[in-house]
Amino acid sequence: MSSRHSTMLKEAVGVFSILILMATGILASGGSHHWAYSGEDDPSHWYNFYDLCSGNKQSPIDIVPSTAKPQNFLPIHLGNYDTIGKSFTLINNGHTVLLSLPKNYADYRMPFVRDGGLTNQFIFAQLHFHWGAEGDRGSEHTVNNKHYAAELHFVHFNKKYGSLGNATSHPDGLAVLGVFVETSKEDNPAFDPITSVLDHVVHEGHEWELNETLSLRDLLPESLSKFYRYMGSLTTPGCQEIVVWTVFADPITASESQLAEFRQLLGEDGEILVNNYRPAQPLMGRTVHVRSSSTKMIASLVAFLLPIVAVLAL
Ligand SMILES: *[C@@H]1O[C@H](CO)[C@@H](O)[C@H](O)[C@H]1NC(C)=O
Ligand SMILES: *[C@@H]1O[C@H](CO)[C@@H](O)[C@H](O)[C@H]1NC(C)=O
Ligand SMILES: [Zn+2]
Repeated sequence: MSSRHSTMLKEAVGVFSILILMATGILASGGSHHWAYSGEDDPSHWYNFYDLCSGNKQSPIDIVPSTAKPQNFLPIHLGNYDTIGKSFTLINNGHTVLLSLPKNYADYRMPFVRDGGLTNQFIFAQLHFHWGAEGDRGSEHTVNNKHYAAELHFVHFNKKYGSLGNATSHPDGLAVLGVFVETSKEDNPAFDPITSVLDHVVHEGHEWELNETLSLRDLLPESLSKFYRYMGSLTTPGCQEIVVWTVFADPITASESQLAEFRQLLGEDGEILVNNYRPAQPLMGRTVHVRSSSTKMIASLVAFLLPIVAVLAL
């Protein structure tokens, strides 16, 4: 009896120390302390448990178009973005709702982005959303301190790192495309495949496979020619400074009733999931570049005029 008791005790101690090791392991790896958008663990406290969140290249930022530096980037090139996907999975992770492709999705069909000043090809990993309780806020980036009603983030990882997980330990790991959403009177049909099934993922951890086909291209603005570019971070803990940001100047639209579908979701704490945006972070001397077709026009005008001026000078 007593030896059986001591074996049980040893086992219990063993399990207990494994639990402790696991807990310390999680903390040591920069881990999983609770974080939120309001209350005690709101964005102003994230750095207490995630020290990178107080870094000097944080996102989002307030974009001030009048101070953005024009640059002649190539147009953004999207690959496989208009491939109509039926196999997207929608997941409520307690902080946002996230759209991803199945693990076995063929490499040659993976959506990707390149050019537009990006150093490499970046492969699509997931799309997620930030939204407000009302239409006057919700976006993470702001323009002249103006919030849009929501913001989409198309997250891509640098092809050379092979996976999203591997890419997150490199300063050139991710390229995120940010798209503003402005409220409109009419529904935006591009959102329907998502908004029509959000009531299946109301609770954290719930997943739903999209039945309707969805084109990622339709969730981007019609014109991609003008965008802002800067170096920043993930906008959620751990706040790693590994993101080259592209924020399109033109918004897409969604109706109030479509936005209301997002506002029915529940977060990690069981409360309504709204205002899941981090406030603008200090620029800390970073440069925000802007690509616009007018830059391109001036450049081609100069290229056109220079030989004429040269000829006239003779
Ligand atoms: C991720 O990195 C590990 C270690 O460097 C490597 O073995 C693995 O192949 C990488 N994964 C992908 C998908 O490239
Ligand atoms: C849609 O997909 C779900 C699984 O995610 C399935 O249960 C449901 O029956 C499908 N609905 C239709 C109309 O195909
Ligand atoms: Zn985001």
